[in-house]
Amino acid sequence: MQSVRIGSGALSASRLAYGCWRLAGTWDPTELTPEREAAGMRAVHAAIDAGYTLFDHADIYCQGVCETIFGRVLEATPSLRAGMVIATKCGIRRPNDPAGAPYRYDFSREHIVASCEQSLRRLRVETVDIYQLHRPDYLMDPAEVAAAFDALQRSGKVREFGVSNFRPSQVTALQRAWKGPLVVNQVEFSLAHLAPLEDGTLDQCLAESMTLMAWSPLAGGKLGDGSRRVLPSQEGYDTARIQAELATMAHARGTTRTALALAWLLKHPAGVMPIVGSTDPARIREAAAAADLSLSREEWYRLLIAARPVPLP
Ligand SMILES: NC(=O)c1ccc[n+]([C@@H]2O[C@H](COP(=O)([O-])OP(=O)(O)OC[C@H]3O[C@@H](n4cnc5c(N)ncnc54)[C@H](OP(=O)(O)O)[C@@H]3O)[C@@H](O)[C@H]2O)c1
Repeated sequence: MQSVRIGSGALSASRLAYGCWRLAGTWDPTELTPEREAAGMRAVHAAIDAGYTLFDHADIYCQGVCETIFGRVLEATPSLRAGMVIATKCGIRRPNDPAGAPYRYDFSREHIVASCEQSLRRLRVETVDIYQLHRPDYLMDPAEVAAAFDALQRSGKVREFGVSNFRPSQVTALQRAWKGPLVVNQVEFSLAHLAPLEDGTLDQCLAESMTLMAWSPLAGGKLGDGSRRVLPSQEGYDTARIQAELATMAHARGTTRTALALAWLLKHPAGVMPIVGSTDPARIREAAAAADLSLSREEWYRLLIAARPVPLP
């Protein structure tokens, strides 16, 4: 797969990233079985074989189990690490109680540093390549975050930093305090969720040379062959019109709806990097084909128009 520079930093990676959120096959760590773990490891190998080099994690994915499964792949074949860019995230905490208390956010220096050290142990690596703040903490103190980043970078535990689900104004506030580049903003972006086109996120990525990493690029499966499990915010997505337009275009172009939906993201001049979330080896390969698919301006707008709830002004 073609390689691209990530933000204005020193790292490059494959045009599409592989997302590790679903690797455990469950959200509940007590439900992990040897079969699920083996399937997760097979998915990682399928992604490596298909040419993905950026792997996206978070400390909370199945409460650390996804990082652990990935770490087992590296433990079995340590030479794989050299060809990878490993990204993970921190900043969301779930109080450890079985009643399912709500998440809360924590960008304190102590939490950022401790969470990184735990991720390094689970992933079985010395360094995280891109460390991202997962969701804005309403109590974010940019100077405190910058101090945590500085400590992690100086100790060699992290190469570069990014954010996720940040509004442009929040990126700016943090960037004023942090001396290095924020290389990514990871947000939801797909034909079923067009907000980054309108809310200034893509404009900022263009202006500041940040990479927009697009999570749920197939709307959790609603733009593919059906959703396994989607986030509560995605449940109401109505994708019937987009699906119909994708199917017509896929037939005309001799490709798949999945590849087209991802190629639509790749066309944006900001250099959007979709994070593919399938755990099915054939679908992981199918998604990689999007990297070789180029849409015309006409095709891009046809899909946008089908995706918008109201006509273009
Ligand atoms: N920063 C954040 O807040 C945030 C939030 C959510 C996700 N993420 C990141 O984004 C990544 C991707 O998110 P996502 O998993 O929701 O992405 P997605 O690619 O939109 O959805 C993947 C889901 O769609 C299903 N699917 C159905 N048809 C498919 C097809 N034709 N091709 C591929 N998949 C198909 C997959 O099932 P099968 O596995 O059976 O193929 C899988 O359950 C995550 O792994 C994570 O790294 C970040």
